[in-house]
Order: sequence, then C-alpha cells, then structure tokens
Amino acid sequence: MQALVLVGGRGTRLRPLTYGTPKPAVTLVDRPFLNYMTEWLGSHGVDEVILACGFLPDELKAVLGDGEPGGPKLKYLVEEETLGTAGAIRFALDHLDETFFALNGDVLADLDLTSLWNQHAETGARATLGLYEVSDSSSYGLVDIDEEGQVLQFSEKDPNRTGAGLINAGTYVLQRDAVAEIPAGREVSIETEFYPSITGKGLYARPLDGYWMDFGTPERYFEATWDIIEGRIHTQVRTNSDGVHVSPEAEIDPSATIGPRAVVGPGVTVGAGAKVNGSVLLEGSEVGKGAEVEASIIGPGVKVAAGDTVGDEVLGKNQNGEVVNA
Ligand code: GDD
Ligand code: MG
Repeated sequence: MQALVLVGGRGTRLRPLTYGTPKPAVTLVDRPFLNYMTEWLGSHGVDEVILACGFLPDELKAVLGDGEPGGPKLKYLVEEETLGTAGAIRFALDHLDETFFALNGDVLADLDLTSLWNQHAETGARATLGLYEVSDSSSYGLVDIDEEGQVLQFSEKDPNRTGAGLINAGTYVLQRDAVAEIPAGREVSIETEFYPSITGKGLYARPLDGYWMDFGTPERYFEATWDIIEGRIHTQVRTNSDGVHVSPEAEIDPSATIGPRAVVGPGVTVGAGAKVNGSVLLEGSEVGKGAEVEASIIGPGVKVAAGDTVGDEVLGKNQNGEVVNA
C-alpha cells in the first residue's frame, strides 16, 4: 500500500526552526517529525511513502534517508517549481498505484486510515477525505457532507464560517484516474480547485476519531511534545514521571533542575545550577551554568550563556547562522 505525502511547504510559521530544516525533519521529542507519520501509515499497511518535496529536498533526504528499519520505504520526488497541493500529486502520477493514500505532511495523528480506505472501496469514490471535528474551523478546510458521506461543499478557510465543525484532516484516499484529470504543469490547489471541481462527482468523506493535530506553529509544537510524552498519542517514547524526556546522550549537571515538562535532546549540555522547565532543548544545544529556560524551544546548536534567562522564546539559527527568536 502506498502513501504520497506533501512536504513541499516552507514551514514559515515554525521559523527559526525551519530556516535550514524542512518541517518534516524538525525533531519532535526524540525523532524527526515525519517518523511519527510513517509509523502511523505503516500501522495501516503502508509500505511505500512518496515524499512530494519542494523546499530543501536534500536536507530532508539527509535526515530521513530510506526510512526506518521495518517501516515504509521512502521515495523522493522533487518539484522544480511550486505546484500546489493538487499539482504536486499530479506531478507524481507515473509513480502512483491505482488507489493510494495522500496526506498533508504536517499532521500528527493516529486516525483510523483503514476505515477510510474501506469506506472508499465500498462507495466506489474517486476521492475520500478524512474529516476531524474541531471547535474552531477558521484555519482549516470546512467540509459539509450528507448521510452517505458525499461531500456537499468544501470551503477552504472561509472567514464567514467559523466555529465548530468537521474539517479536512489532510488525509485522503485517491484514485489515480481522478488525479490524471488534474491539469499538469501548473500550480493547482486540491482544496480550492480540485475538490470543488469533483464535488457531487464521486467526492466522499468520513469523520474519524482519535488524535489529530496540524503541526505548524510553536504553540502546536509544544502541545504535540507534551501529548507525546504524556501518552496522548499512540507511540513509544522514553520518559520519566514528570513529563521529562532526556536523551541518554545528553550531559546534565547533577545540580541542574529539569522539568516539570522538558525535552533534552542528544548532545545537549546543561550546566551547574541551571533550571529548565516547560522547554525543549534540541540536539547539540547548550544551557550554561545558572541559566534559566522556561516555556522555550532552544534550537539545534544554540547556546544559552551562563546566567541568562530565556522565557517564551523560540531560538534558532537563521540562514547566516545567527541566533534569532521567532
Ligand atoms: N509538494 C508540495 N508542493 N507540497 C505542498 C505544496 C506544494 O506546492 N504546497 C503545500 N504543500 C504541503 C505542505 O508542506 C503541507 O504539508 C501540506 O501541503 C498542506 O499545506 P499547509 O500550508 O500546511 O496548509 P494548511 O495547514 O494551511 O491547510 C491545509 O491543511 C489543513 C489541515 O491541516 C488544507 O488542506 C486544509 O484544508 C486542512 O484543513
Ligand atoms: Mg498545515
């Protein structure tokens, strides 16, 4: 079974963590974000993942390689120009199975993809969208369906329709012959162009239960981190009792205070008397003696000087290697 994952976006809302690292390769707790997705896909029978890349494809390959042992094999397709969410799938046409999953590459979820696939087969749909109930739909695609699951209307980020609703979870089952009808060689949006064009013509959807999050902003990054550590999403992670994950390859002075809630990545050093809480120290970062870090993300290789205080900041390196705050 095959899944195509859209990873061409620039991840601007997660800067500075995404200046030199594409969002799917950003570390979340103890692994690149995309590995949660491949683990989830693998648990529903996917053995091949095509990554539809645009931004920083080489960096993505360097971090993700061929995939995890025992997990789906990763393949890379690189767009030379921005093709949009439907254009990127069209671009992959020659590599696609007759029926396949397609996903936005920035969702952390454990939704029941098998039930989505089964409904797709039963209805004979051309495309079936996984939906998720949220309390504020304004930053998503809102989807109206009938009792059979046929889509009546797809409204992408409609400012006139806010409040609770069933939104597009960015998880699709698609037929290759439907994808073949997407115009090639230009930017096409699946949300504002393709789905509206097949509404009433074989476009179905299914509300799904479980965990779902669009992993796009520092707030969501924190939320996802604590959800993983505190066991609200199904995955294996080492953690101690007060929501703290410390890499075995971190060096923490015994007099430092870590937590409640913290992630300390590999190659991180924390000096004597330092205090770290509600924060994530990414690989190779450093917190000097007596420094205090609260509610912050310290990006890869960033140093917090001895005695400094960092609160509510996201520190990372920009293209010139300078440390900047979000
Ligand atoms: N390959 C490729 N090429 N990927 C792209 C392109 C492109 O031109 N444009 C966007 N993507 C990828 C992004 O990297 C991301 O993984 C995914 O497509 C969705 O783009 P976002 O920019 O994150 O969209 P969004 O979050 O504002 O809205 C989308 O996701 C919501 C759920 O998270 C829409 O699909 C909404 O309808 C949906 O509710
Ligand atoms: Mg998104």
